Amino acid sequence: MNAYLARLQAPPGVGGSERGRQLFRTSTCTMCHNSDQGRPVPTFIVDMKTIFPGDNPEVLAVRMPPLNPVLNTANSIFDDKMAVVNASIRGEKRGTAMPLLLDLARKPVFLHDNSVPTLDNLLDPIRGPNAPHPFYFSNSADRAAIVEYLRGLGTNTN
Ligand code: HEC
Repeated sequence: MNAYLARLQAPPGVGGSERGRQLFRTSTCTMCHNSDQGRPVPTFIVDMKTIFPGDNPEVLAVRMPPLNPVLNTANSIFDDKMAVVNASIRGEKRGTAMPLLLDLARKPVFLHDNSVPTLDNLLDPIRGPNAPHPFYFSNSADRAAIVEYLRGLGTNTN
């Protein structure tokens, strides 16, 4: 099954933007994301305080190590899958894994909790400093260029 999945073609991007590519590569984005989606996705976990500064969990259950305590931030669904991830015996930190940036022109919603309706909204500081994935471009023309770049990503573009 793994061999079959590894051979599947990546979906092609739609459009693209050279200015967006430059903005992506010279901003904070490449601290975490590869610009070349043909390379394996980075394997690190981004801790919750970085990916979601508004994370403010309460302990729902304490468990014997190496099992982590079960935690929940009551007013957000972004951390809800962590209750499951934390159930692993790996003792990993609370956080989220890196996604590939592929097929973004066809995606109807963004982030793992489907909480963000558009790429423009994802990158708009109107979402606030404590929202999940708070990495923004305040200039709307820059934002439009990045969105066009993201929509164009495939495994043959970098
Ligand atoms: C600190 C690391 C980090 C930085 C900096 C960062 N990202 Fe992300 N990005 C992530 C992680 C982790 C996710 C997955 C979050 C989740 O849904 O759990 C993600 C998700 C995304 C997604 C959503 C993908 C999808 O399929 O829903 C897009 C688009 C994206 N990032 C673009 C950007 C852009 C553009 C920048 C620069 C402005 C940026 N990222 C900066 C770590 C980062």
